[in-house]
Amino acid sequence: MKQASSLKDNAPDQAQTVAVSCRGITKVYGSGDNAVHALRGIDLDVQSGELLMLVGPSGCGKTTLISIMAGVLDQTAGQCLLFGNDLSQIAANAKTAYRGKTVGFVFQSLNLVPMLTAAENVAIPLLLTGVIWMDALHHAEEMLSRMGLQDRLHFYPSELSGGQLQRVAIARALVHSPRLIVCDEPTSALDNVTGQEVLEVVRSLGVAKDRAVVVVTHDARIYHFADRIAVMNDGRIERITTSPQELVTVP
Ligand SMILES: Nc1ncnc2c1ncn2[C@@H]1O[C@H](COP(=O)(O)OP(=O)(O)O)[C@@H](O)[C@H]1O
Ligand SMILES: [Mg+2]
Repeated sequence: MKQASSLKDNAPDQAQTVAVSCRGITKVYGSGDNAVHALRGIDLDVQSGELLMLVGPSGCGKTTLISIMAGVLDQTAGQCLLFGNDLSQIAANAKTAYRGKTVGFVFQSLNLVPMLTAAENVAIPLLLTGVIWMDALHHAEEMLSRMGLQDRLHFYPSELSGGQLQRVAIARALVHSPRLIVCDEPTSALDNVTGQEVLEVVRSLGVAKDRAVVVVTHDARIYHFADRIAVMNDGRIERITTSPQELVTVP
Protein backbone atom coordinates (compact mmCIF):
# COMPACT_ATOMS: atom_id res chain seq x y z
CA MET A 1 0.00 0.00 0.00
CA LYS A 2 1.20 3.48 -0.85
CA GLN A 3 1.45 6.16 1.78
CA ALA A 4 -0.13 9.58 1.37
CA SER A 5 3.28 11.11 0.69
CA SER A 6 3.63 9.08 -2.51
CA LEU A 7 0.50 10.61 -4.02
CA LYS A 8 1.26 12.93 -6.89
CA ASP A 9 -0.15 16.43 -6.60
CA ASN A 10 1.76 17.82 -9.52
CA ALA A 11 1.78 14.64 -11.48
CA PRO A 12 4.17 14.45 -14.42
CA ASP A 13 3.75 13.35 -18.01
CA GLN A 14 0.36 12.01 -18.98
CA ALA A 15 -1.30 13.20 -15.78
CA GLN A 16 -0.77 16.77 -16.96
CA THR A 17 -3.14 16.20 -19.84
CA VAL A 18 -5.25 13.32 -18.56
CA ALA A 19 -7.30 13.94 -15.44
CA VAL A 20 -8.90 10.49 -15.25
CA SER A 21 -7.73 7.46 -17.18
CA CYS A 22 -9.96 4.37 -17.28
CA ARG A 23 -8.71 1.14 -18.85
CA GLY A 24 -10.75 -2.05 -19.05
CA ILE A 25 -12.94 -1.06 -16.11
CA THR A 26 -15.53 -3.65 -15.17
CA LYS A 27 -17.88 -3.62 -12.20
CA VAL A 28 -19.96 -6.54 -11.02
CA TYR A 29 -22.36 -6.04 -8.13
CA GLY A 30 -23.22 -9.20 -6.19
CA SER A 31 -22.28 -12.70 -7.29
CA GLY A 32 -23.62 -15.94 -8.72
CA ASP A 33 -27.21 -15.77 -9.92
CA ASN A 34 -27.55 -12.28 -8.45
CA ALA A 35 -24.53 -10.79 -10.26
CA VAL A 36 -25.21 -7.48 -12.04
CA HIS A 37 -22.65 -6.54 -14.68
CA ALA A 38 -22.86 -2.76 -14.35
CA LEU A 39 -19.71 -1.94 -16.35
CA ARG A 40 -18.43 -4.24 -19.11
CA GLY A 41 -15.04 -2.81 -20.06
CA ILE A 42 -14.71 0.97 -20.06
CA ASP A 43 -11.78 2.64 -21.80
CA LEU A 44 -12.07 6.39 -21.38
CA ASP A 45 -9.83 9.36 -20.69
CA VAL A 46 -11.12 12.58 -19.19
CA GLN A 47 -8.74 15.28 -20.39
CA SER A 48 -7.56 18.08 -18.15
CA GLY A 49 -9.32 21.25 -19.24
CA GLU A 50 -12.52 19.56 -20.40
CA LEU A 51 -16.09 19.12 -19.30
CA LEU A 52 -17.17 15.61 -20.26
CA MET A 53 -20.81 14.58 -20.10
CA LEU A 54 -22.02 11.01 -19.68
CA VAL A 55 -25.43 10.23 -21.07
CA GLY A 56 -27.43 7.03 -21.55
CA PRO A 57 -30.52 5.19 -20.36
CA SER A 58 -31.27 4.58 -16.71
CA GLY A 59 -29.28 1.62 -15.38
CA CYS A 60 -26.53 1.76 -18.05
CA GLY A 61 -23.79 2.35 -15.46
CA LYS A 62 -23.28 6.13 -15.35
CA THR A 63 -23.35 6.51 -11.56
CA THR A 64 -21.17 3.43 -11.15
CA LEU A 65 -18.57 4.83 -13.55
CA ILE A 66 -18.31 8.28 -11.96
CA SER A 67 -18.16 6.70 -8.50
CA ILE A 68 -15.13 4.68 -9.59
CA MET A 69 -13.55 7.75 -11.21
CA ALA A 70 -14.03 9.70 -7.98
CA GLY A 71 -12.62 6.90 -5.83
CA VAL A 72 -15.80 6.30 -3.84
CA LEU A 73 -16.26 2.81 -5.33
CA ASP A 74 -13.71 0.16 -6.31
CA GLN A 75 -13.89 -1.50 -9.71
CA THR A 76 -13.99 -5.28 -10.10
CA ALA A 77 -11.23 -5.24 -12.74
CA GLY A 78 -9.29 -2.76 -14.82
CA GLN A 79 -7.38 0.36 -13.84
CA CYS A 80 -8.56 3.87 -13.05
CA LEU A 81 -5.95 6.61 -12.53
CA LEU A 82 -6.96 9.94 -11.02
CA PHE A 83 -4.29 12.51 -11.91
CA GLY A 84 -1.89 9.60 -12.22
CA ASN A 85 -2.87 7.98 -8.91
CA ASP A 86 -4.36 4.50 -8.68
CA LEU A 87 -6.73 4.99 -5.75
CA SER A 88 -7.54 1.28 -5.49
CA GLN A 89 -3.91 0.71 -4.41
CA ILE A 90 -3.90 3.33 -1.66
CA ALA A 91 -4.62 2.72 2.04
CA ALA A 92 -8.13 3.76 3.08
CA ASN A 93 -7.20 6.78 5.21
CA ALA A 94 -4.78 8.20 2.64
CA LYS A 95 -7.38 7.65 -0.07
CA THR A 96 -10.06 9.47 1.91
CA ALA A 97 -7.78 12.45 2.48
CA TYR A 98 -6.66 12.62 -1.16
CA ARG A 99 -10.22 12.27 -2.45
CA GLY A 100 -11.51 14.94 -0.05
CA LYS A 101 -8.98 17.43 -1.35
CA THR A 102 -9.05 16.47 -5.02
CA VAL A 103 -12.66 15.59 -5.83
CA GLY A 104 -15.95 17.46 -5.52
CA PHE A 105 -18.91 15.07 -5.86
CA VAL A 106 -22.53 16.10 -6.40
CA PHE A 107 -24.45 12.96 -5.49
CA GLN A 108 -27.83 12.25 -7.04
CA SER A 109 -29.13 11.85 -3.50
CA LEU A 110 -27.36 15.14 -2.55
CA ASN A 111 -26.28 13.77 0.88
CA LEU A 112 -26.66 17.03 2.80
CA VAL A 113 -26.39 16.91 6.60
CA PRO A 114 -29.88 17.71 7.99
CA MET A 115 -28.66 19.22 11.28
CA LEU A 116 -26.42 21.76 9.54
CA THR A 117 -27.43 24.96 7.73
CA ALA A 118 -26.78 25.44 4.03
CA ALA A 119 -23.61 27.44 4.77
CA GLU A 120 -22.38 24.88 7.31
CA ASN A 121 -22.95 22.04 4.81
CA VAL A 122 -20.97 23.88 2.15
CA ALA A 123 -18.17 24.64 4.62
CA ILE A 124 -17.51 20.94 5.34
CA PRO A 125 -14.98 20.23 2.54
CA LEU A 126 -12.96 23.28 3.59
CA LEU A 127 -12.94 22.23 7.24
CA LEU A 128 -11.74 18.78 6.19
CA THR A 129 -8.79 20.34 4.40
CA GLY A 130 -7.80 22.36 7.48
CA VAL A 131 -9.35 25.77 6.77
CA ILE A 132 -10.39 27.52 9.99
CA TRP A 133 -14.08 27.78 10.78
CA MET A 134 -14.71 31.49 10.13
CA ASP A 135 -12.85 31.43 6.80
CA ALA A 136 -14.62 28.24 5.75
CA LEU A 137 -18.01 29.74 6.55
CA HIS A 138 -17.15 32.94 4.69
CA HIS A 139 -16.12 31.02 1.55
CA ALA A 140 -19.20 28.82 1.84
CA GLU A 141 -21.44 31.90 1.95
CA GLU A 142 -19.72 33.34 -1.12
CA MET A 143 -20.20 30.12 -3.05
CA LEU A 144 -23.86 29.90 -2.08
CA SER A 145 -24.31 33.50 -3.21
CA ARG A 146 -22.85 32.58 -6.60
CA MET A 147 -25.54 29.92 -6.75
CA GLY A 148 -28.22 32.56 -6.12
CA LEU A 149 -28.83 31.41 -2.54
CA GLN A 150 -27.63 34.53 -0.68
CA ASP A 151 -30.96 34.75 1.17
CA ARG A 152 -30.89 31.07 2.20
CA LEU A 153 -27.45 30.83 3.84
CA HIS A 154 -28.70 29.92 7.30
CA PHE A 155 -31.65 27.76 6.32
CA TYR A 156 -31.68 24.06 7.17
CA PRO A 157 -32.15 21.48 4.40
CA SER A 158 -35.72 20.81 5.56
CA GLU A 159 -36.53 24.48 4.89
CA LEU A 160 -35.26 24.46 1.30
CA SER A 161 -36.89 23.44 -2.00
CA GLY A 162 -35.54 20.62 -4.18
CA GLY A 163 -33.85 23.06 -6.52
CA GLN A 164 -32.28 24.98 -3.63
CA LEU A 165 -30.99 21.74 -2.08
CA GLN A 166 -29.45 20.79 -5.40
CA ARG A 167 -27.63 24.13 -5.57
CA VAL A 168 -26.35 23.71 -1.99
CA ALA A 169 -24.93 20.30 -2.97
CA ILE A 170 -23.26 21.83 -6.04
CA ALA A 171 -21.81 24.68 -3.97
CA ARG A 172 -20.38 22.11 -1.55
CA ALA A 173 -18.72 20.24 -4.42
CA LEU A 174 -17.07 23.43 -5.76
CA VAL A 175 -16.10 25.30 -2.60
CA HIS A 176 -12.65 23.78 -2.05
CA SER A 177 -11.57 24.17 -5.70
CA PRO A 178 -11.14 20.44 -6.33
CA ARG A 179 -9.23 19.34 -9.44
CA LEU A 180 -12.01 16.94 -10.44
CA ILE A 181 -15.71 17.75 -10.11
CA VAL A 182 -18.23 14.96 -10.75
CA CYS A 183 -21.93 15.76 -10.83
CA ASP A 184 -24.69 13.15 -10.98
CA GLU A 185 -27.78 14.66 -12.64
CA PRO A 186 -27.05 18.15 -11.22
CA THR A 187 -29.99 19.92 -12.89
CA SER A 188 -32.76 17.36 -12.33
CA ALA A 189 -34.62 19.66 -9.90
CA LEU A 190 -33.75 22.98 -11.57
CA ASP A 191 -35.72 25.07 -14.06
CA ASN A 192 -33.97 25.81 -17.32
CA VAL A 193 -32.73 29.31 -16.43
CA THR A 194 -31.31 28.19 -13.07
CA GLY A 195 -29.82 25.08 -14.67
CA GLN A 196 -27.97 27.19 -17.23
CA GLU A 197 -26.70 29.57 -14.52
CA VAL A 198 -25.47 26.72 -12.33
CA LEU A 199 -23.68 24.97 -15.20
CA GLU A 200 -22.08 28.30 -16.07
CA VAL A 201 -20.57 28.43 -12.56
CA VAL A 202 -19.56 24.75 -12.61
CA ARG A 203 -17.84 25.23 -15.96
CA SER A 204 -16.09 28.46 -15.04
CA LEU A 205 -14.74 27.09 -11.73
CA GLY A 206 -14.17 23.50 -12.77
CA VAL A 207 -12.61 23.68 -16.21
CA ALA A 208 -8.99 24.82 -16.22
CA LYS A 209 -5.61 23.63 -17.44
CA ASP A 210 -5.14 21.10 -14.65
CA ARG A 211 -8.79 20.48 -13.82
CA ALA A 212 -11.74 18.61 -15.25
CA VAL A 213 -15.48 18.13 -14.81
CA VAL A 214 -17.64 15.07 -15.46
CA VAL A 215 -21.41 15.55 -15.55
CA VAL A 216 -23.96 12.73 -15.77
CA THR A 217 -27.18 14.06 -17.22
CA HIS A 218 -30.43 13.39 -19.04
CA ASP A 219 -30.94 17.12 -19.58
CA ALA A 220 -30.39 17.97 -23.25
CA ARG A 221 -30.72 21.68 -22.41
CA ILE A 222 -27.25 21.61 -20.82
CA TYR A 223 -25.47 19.52 -23.50
CA HIS A 224 -23.95 22.68 -24.99
CA PHE A 225 -21.74 23.10 -21.89
CA ALA A 226 -19.90 19.86 -22.79
CA ASP A 227 -16.65 19.64 -24.68
CA ARG A 228 -17.39 15.96 -25.35
CA ILE A 229 -20.35 13.72 -24.65
CA ALA A 230 -19.88 9.99 -24.05
CA VAL A 231 -22.94 7.89 -24.77
CA MET A 232 -23.25 4.81 -22.56
CA ASN A 233 -25.41 1.76 -23.02
CA ASP A 234 -25.51 -1.46 -21.01
CA GLY A 235 -22.19 -0.93 -19.25
CA ARG A 236 -20.24 0.23 -22.29
CA ILE A 237 -19.32 3.49 -23.99
CA GLU A 238 -21.09 3.35 -27.34
CA ARG A 239 -19.59 6.48 -28.83
CA ILE A 240 -18.15 9.87 -27.99
CA THR A 241 -19.23 13.03 -29.75
CA THR A 242 -18.25 16.68 -29.69
CA SER A 243 -21.51 17.63 -31.33
CA PRO A 244 -24.48 17.70 -28.95
CA GLN A 245 -26.96 18.33 -31.79
CA GLU A 246 -26.38 14.71 -32.87
CA LEU A 247 -27.94 13.50 -29.63
CA VAL A 248 -31.00 15.68 -29.49
CA THR A 249 -33.79 13.76 -31.14
CA VAL A 250 -36.49 15.81 -32.79
CA PRO A 251 -39.85 15.03 -31.17
N1 LIG B 1 -25.25 -1.24 -5.01
C1 LIG B 1 -25.74 -1.94 -6.04
N2 LIG B 1 -26.02 -3.25 -5.90
C2 LIG B 1 -26.50 -3.98 -6.94
N3 LIG B 1 -26.73 -3.50 -8.16
C3 LIG B 1 -26.48 -2.19 -8.35
C4 LIG B 1 -25.98 -1.34 -7.31
N4 LIG B 1 -25.82 -0.08 -7.80
C5 LIG B 1 -26.21 -0.15 -9.10
N5 LIG B 1 -26.61 -1.41 -9.42
C6 LIG B 1 -27.07 -1.85 -10.76
O1 LIG B 1 -26.01 -1.59 -11.68
C7 LIG B 1 -26.54 -1.14 -12.91
C8 LIG B 1 -25.97 0.25 -13.21
O2 LIG B 1 -26.46 1.16 -12.23
P1 LIG B 1 -26.08 2.71 -12.22
O3 LIG B 1 -24.62 2.85 -12.32
O4 LIG B 1 -26.77 3.31 -11.05
O5 LIG B 1 -26.75 3.21 -13.59
P2 LIG B 1 -27.23 4.68 -14.05
O6 LIG B 1 -26.57 5.67 -13.16
O7 LIG B 1 -26.81 4.78 -15.48
O8 LIG B 1 -28.72 4.70 -13.91
C9 LIG B 1 -28.05 -1.17 -12.76
O9 LIG B 1 -28.52 -2.40 -13.27
C10 LIG B 1 -28.25 -1.08 -11.27
O10 LIG B 1 -29.47 -1.69 -10.89
MG1 LIG C 1 -27.45 7.09 -11.90
